[in-house]
Amino acid sequence: MKIALGVSGGIAAYKAAEIARLLQDRGVRVQVVMTRSAQEFIRPLSFAALTGEKVITDLFSTGGETPNLDSAVEHISVAQSIHALVVVPATADILAKFAHGICDDFLTTLHLATTAPVIVAPAMNVNMWNHAATQQNLQTLRARGVHIVEPGSGYLACGMIGAGRLAANEAIVDAVMQVLEVKPGAAAERDLVGETILVTAGPTREKIDPVRYISNRSSGKMGYAIAEASAQRGARVLLVTGPATAKLPELANLEVTRVESTDEMRSAVLGLLPQATVVIKAAAVGDYHVKAIAEHKIKRGGPLTLELEPNPDILKEIAARKHNQIVIGFAAETQDLLANGRKKLESKSLDAIVINDVSRDGIGFDSDRNAVTILTRDGETVVAETSKCEVAHRILDQISPLRAHRPARA
Ligand code: PMT
Repeated sequence: MKIALGVSGGIAAYKAAEIARLLQDRGVRVQVVMTRSAQEFIRPLSFAALTGEKVITDLFSTGGETPNLDSAVEHISVAQSIHALVVVPATADILAKFAHGICDDFLTTLHLATTAPVIVAPAMNVNMWNHAATQQNLQTLRARGVHIVEPGSGYLACGMIGAGRLAANEAIVDAVMQVLEVKPGAAAERDLVGETILVTAGPTREKIDPVRYISNRSSGKMGYAIAEASAQRGARVLLVTGPATAKLPELANLEVTRVESTDEMRSAVLGLLPQATVVIKAAAVGDYHVKAIAEHKIKRGGPLTLELEPNPDILKEIAARKHNQIVIGFAAETQDLLANGRKKLESKSLDAIVINDVSRDGIGFDSDRNAVTILTRDGETVVAETSKCEVAHRILDQISPLRAHRPARA
């Protein structure tokens, strides 16, 4: 489920950050859209850090000299991708604009362009709330099916007492969840019900001695995003994770196995494999382990040589043992991306491979964003730089076409 969270310019704008977090905790993807005046109260960066998504602040991107076509039609793509437009806080101004169909910025344009349900949580001074114009605008919006989360009464930021205080967080979140659940077609997004998806994430650690190890920069974010998106789309998820730094998603249909070394990851994955209908291997698995792990801490001295032995290739073993499972691997590459990715697709007998350019700053290892090319035997899908959450969904979109080429599941 994805919503656009519109933030308009009122003193309660900071509360929208808490609403974003609470919705994310319930498995909702949040795309924040801010009006110009909202940015006087809270900075877009706060929302970007919280949601891991770009915050939309302008109708036209101001990054380059000329706005590009992508930014010019972004309101249409956002309008089509959301399950609800939620505005917190909704000022008297935004209610008036919505009621009169004005579209002079991204949020108001999105409001006209979307067919998704609209939920507004008004907050303003008591006299503005009681003003006949505001009440008439609310009437108009109600008549159009807009959900109004009524404000509470009490002490207002302007020093007055009365109606106009933003409703409690829980009331807003409950209203959103209620609307999302009754939305016709909502079930269409739960396209992975019946699948059991085995996801690996994070790095592995190969011990050198009791205090040292060899590892890599994987944070687990990519694998966790896949696990979370799979669970949101209705799959049962078996997540095998190395010692990652990212926050583990907390979802009911997610079962987590923690491992440390490649050997432990191999045992866990092969043990769970018979239950899986799909395997997605985003983990950055160590290719080598230390031949003789020192029993005691190695003392500092002259040059030290460690003898490394290759680890088993877990992905290759999965592909060799699979029955009817769809197996999707990753390829972390720094050069000849497509050629190297295609080689791994073939040599590991995969159904698809996600090629990740790990030489670029800001994507890949330990970042919130990514850009990948997904190769299948039928073609390639390029996913331009976006959030790892979005990349995860684009990877999961491959399951249904890959399944179509398969005999029915047992
Ligand atoms: O965790 P993040 O910080 O979010 O970073 C994400 C990522 C960059 C780690 C991820 O997007 C990624 O690219 N993962 C694959 C890393 C990797 O090990 O790539 P590889 O090209 O070395 O391995 C190819 C595939 O074989 C991978 O699916 C890997 O899980 C698997 N493999 C590798 C070695 C091994 N011994 N056994 C394996 O199963």
